[in-house]
Amino acid sequence: MLRLDKFLCEMNIGTRSQVKKELKQGAVTVNGETVTKPEYKVDEKKDRVAYKGKMLEYRRFVYYMLNKPPGVVSATRDNVHGTVTELLKDTGYGELFPVGRLDRDTRGLILMTNDGELAHCLLSPGKHVEKTYDVELEKGLSREDVRRLEEGVDIGGGRRTLPARVRVLGEKRIYLTITEGKFHQVKRMMEAVGNRVVSLCRVSMGGLKLDEALLPGEYRELTEEEVGMLKG
Ligand code: URA
Repeated sequence: MLRLDKFLCEMNIGTRSQVKKELKQGAVTVNGETVTKPEYKVDEKKDRVAYKGKMLEYRRFVYYMLNKPPGVVSATRDNVHGTVTELLKDTGYGELFPVGRLDRDTRGLILMTNDGELAHCLLSPGKHVEKTYDVELEKGLSREDVRRLEEGVDIGGGRRTLPARVRVLGEKRIYLTITEGKFHQVKRMMEAVGNRVVSLCRVSMGGLKLDEALLPGEYRELTEEEVGMLKG
């Protein structure tokens, strides 16, 4: 059993004071009855709590994959552009944040969650989580370019990239797998070999693959297996 305001906070409906306001305004029902008292005790496993008519399934943490469209930023808030968090505003779990960043013009897989510990783990530089990008290039890569990209290249600022994997998919198209997440890393790697990225799409992260059924801007919850794999 836990207090209704705590339950709602854990579901990311808002801060304690925002939740109190929502309760006062009658936005919350428990088993079909409007409840306005923050201290009301709910059984998170049995009671049916709804916020603005939408049933909340009690789960401390949730995990979604989003196929990020170009033009939105990988942030929770932005004064100018739309954000990935806004794209997932109707999940019923409040504000979810992106695990890592993609450039505004980059498309593809972004993990969205409210699980800070998992996010921290996946982003920790020491973990070397693999990220694979589908990269369209301005021109073809020579064997020497591929060798250099795989060995590590100088991307400026005295930085050398860690070994990477290149899979050639076409004349001007590759899969590039890296284990770091430096600012504009893929674009800078291609520039280091005298090339240029024409389009960039992340297709996997930490073994999690972008679901091909998701159109740009669409998202779905991860399966239990996918969450287990990321945590494993
Ligand atoms: N590398 C880039 O250059 N941009 C991204 O968005 C991701 C990786």
